[in-house]
Amino acid sequence: MGKVTIHTLKKMKERGEKITMLTAYDATFAKLLDESHVDILLVGDSLGMVIQGNETTLPVTLDEMIYHCRAVARGARRAQIVGDMPFMSYQAGIEQALINAGRLIKDGGASAVKLEGGAQHAELVSKLVACGIPVMGHIGLTPQSFHQLGGFKIQGRESGAADRLVEDAIALEAAGAYAIVLEGIPTEIAERITASISIPTIGIGAGAGCDGQVLVIYDLLGMDDSFKPKFVRRYESFATRIRTAVDAYVTDVKDGAFPAEAETFYLDPKARPRRPVATVSAMAAAGGCAPEPDEEEGAAPSDAGDGPGGLYSTPSRD
Ligand code: KIV
Repeated sequence: MGKVTIHTLKKMKERGEKITMLTAYDATFAKLLDESHVDILLVGDSLGMVIQGNETTLPVTLDEMIYHCRAVARGARRAQIVGDMPFMSYQAGIEQALINAGRLIKDGGASAVKLEGGAQHAELVSKLVACGIPVMGHIGLTPQSFHQLGGFKIQGRESGAADRLVEDAIALEAAGAYAIVLEGIPTEIAERITASISIPTIGIGAGAGCDGQVLVIYDLLGMDDSFKPKFVRRYESFATRIRTAVDAYVTDVKDGAFPAEAETFYLDPKARPRRPVATVSAMAAAGGCAPEPDEEEGAAPSDAGDGPGGLYSTPSRD
């Protein structure tokens, strides 16, 4: 299966095939999502909230975005990697924005960048595209404008707002954007935008009429059981499952049940402790001589992965 490019996504819209996008912040998740054929991995500045524990995305720095992009790029093979331009990395001037976007591509390994805002960034978008940097737009609820919007609120309900959102989407397409995230807007407006432009729309809290959907992976997995906005569908309850697993680990360590013999290394396999009962019966069967530990009834398992490959074997990516 070939790598997902801006052209793949355009064709998907033309065919009416839905596009899947999820956030990813590290190589382990990137590999898993990629194996499930998620089309786009967004290294979102939402990492400021779900990874760093901030109240908003505003504190995230460009260096932090690059660090996470690099990790995600190492984990994925097929998915397109999109790096979010963090707050104030593109608003202060075009030249600085071009340099910063370039760093997400060169140093972060992203193949596209995303930035929040519509027509006001049209010139920047066209300059980025002219430099060979694909741009994903993001309109509606734009979390970097948290203070301006007065919080995380559904956008586009007041009079004239729907027309402005459609105009923003058209301006982004005209400037060369290859896709647009529609966040937190009524489904009717998202449908109107999707029908008005030829580039894909990717919705989050924008209804089913978009060309694709995106969720924050931690929300989909239910990593925070206190957070369940209307637009999120939880496919797992990992907060509960992780707590149960970690509780069991804590109990095992406290009780001395972990590590057990199977999870323990010894200086020399021959020096492994022998089980008294097995040793006695085996000695009798062997005419009085104790067998080698590995031949022993109920012998301890060998040290998996401790052969030529060392303690951990290198994972295969096939
Ligand atoms: O930062 C992010 O994760 C995003 C998505 C919610 C679209 O921008």
